[in-house]
Amino acid sequence: MQLNILTLIYLIGSVTFIIGLKMLSNPATARRGNLVAAAGMGLAIIGTIFLYEDEAGQKLGNYGWIFGGLIVGGIIGTLAAKKVKMTAMPEMVSLFNGMGGACAALISIVEFDHWVHTAGWTLYPPLSGLGFDDAPDFGTGHLLIIVLGLIIGSVSFAGSVIAWGKLNGKVKDFAFKGQHIFNILLLLVIVALATYLVGWMPANSQLVFYILFALSLLYGVFFVFPIGGADMPVVISLLNSFTGVAAACGGFLYDNKVMLTGGILVGAAGTLLTILMCKAMNRSLANVLIGSFGGGAAAKGGGTKEQGSYKEITLSDAAVVMSYANKVFIVPGYGLAVAQAQHACHELEKLLESKGVDVKYAIHPVAGRMPGHMNVLLAEADVPYDKLLEMEQANDEFATTDVVLVLGANDVVNPAAKTDPSSPIYGMPILDVELAKTCIVNKRSMKPGYAGIENDLFFQPKTSMLFGDAKKVLQDLISEIKNL
Ligand code: TAP
Repeated sequence: MQLNILTLIYLIGSVTFIIGLKMLSNPATARRGNLVAAAGMGLAIIGTIFLYEDEAGQKLGNYGWIFGGLIVGGIIGTLAAKKVKMTAMPEMVSLFNGMGGACAALISIVEFDHWVHTAGWTLYPPLSGLGFDDAPDFGTGHLLIIVLGLIIGSVSFAGSVIAWGKLNGKVKDFAFKGQHIFNILLLLVIVALATYLVGWMPANSQLVFYILFALSLLYGVFFVFPIGGADMPVVISLLNSFTGVAAACGGFLYDNKVMLTGGILVGAAGTLLTILMCKAMNRSLANVLIGSFGGGAAAKGGGTKEQGSYKEITLSDAAVVMSYANKVFIVPGYGLAVAQAQHACHELEKLLESKGVDVKYAIHPVAGRMPGHMNVLLAEADVPYDKLLEMEQANDEFATTDVVLVLGANDVVNPAAKTDPSSPIYGMPILDVELAKTCIVNKRSMKPGYAGIENDLFFQPKTSMLFGDAKKVLQDLISEIKNL
């Protein structure tokens, strides 16, 4: 009876994950979706702790350890989520994802020990040959899942920690000649050892297992090291899908349906997100993984050529141009998040609309530093969702737009992506803001964006620069327009 209630709880948990994911696809329901899925996960955890019984009718026990861990983890997670700045979100996601990978690897370590004992073997047997004779004739599938969970979880953990370090500047880019070949060889050694362990189950299995563990951690580190800084969000998403698969392995091991469903959903969602991000940048996953985009190489590409001169616009001129326009597009970028200028931005939009100007936002899929970054920011400021136009829709409208106000965006409006085959962002679809009658670019200096390259847009005749912190500039623009 209890088992049935637990099964029902797992079913409810799985359904909430699916509903939550669906709700996450729309900014209007995303927050609630998150809560729905978290509630399902909470229910599944509590249900497991109190209702799970093994075949001998034994309960979990260890309540002190379990609740101690839950309380400490809960406090750390809550504080981290509350304190994190919007701009540091990708780092936190990376670190949390790494913890998921570590959990999956730890499950495999514990379960391997369990498996060794179940098979009746002694711990750390002396290296007594390959031990084919004493290999048990059961448990190959079980061992395969344990080993897969170990490898994928360890790679995800080590890779996520390096990605976290790269994003917050604690870990510098590091690559050596032939590193990609080294990585491939390392991966081949891991696959060969895993096949040996699972296929032959040698007597020295424990030694092989822990060598696999160490090599997988090493692979995670070397896998992420050479990838360029600008591609970290894609890597994090990919590692996130690894963690999902590793967690699904745990679900198989324990025959736990909710863990299995959750793992598969994370794995699938992470994979889809990785593909979507690559598509938005018009790059293949292989190019992301070996391209060193946003690292030193990228900074050199297209960043050194002489660009000519740019012109500036005063606040009062900008206020006049925008107030008397029929249609204004706002293009938000990473700088909007840095300045936390979303509320001022919404205020400007309402003010212009009260003057009869049609105001819309053009959202590039990789503007900012994480998927949906701009949508989340603008949703926080209550900007109506129907005002946010996706790149393709916005590009259709720029030619009939009077003013485009670029707010802290750079790479996503860089025409070099279309015109300069030597540019590291060549081929990435961009917002064609240069098609509008006038383009006003707000940023603090002429410094490049994340890809480390100059932007021709700033030097074009129709473009004027409006320097300053986005929030301050918007507040001043609002006062200017009110005084017109
Ligand atoms: P960026 O190209 O990084 O440019 C942001 C600009 O904002 C900078 O040039 C900076 O210039 C300006 N800025 C910074 N702080 C500011 C402030 N307080 N006020 C005003 N301006 C400020 O941003 P983007 O156009 O959004 O492009 C995103 C980049 O990240 C792309 O290269 C993209 O490929 C990469 N990326 C994003 C994602 C996702 S999922 N979003 C994933 C992978 C890669 P100043 O320093 O001169 O102010």
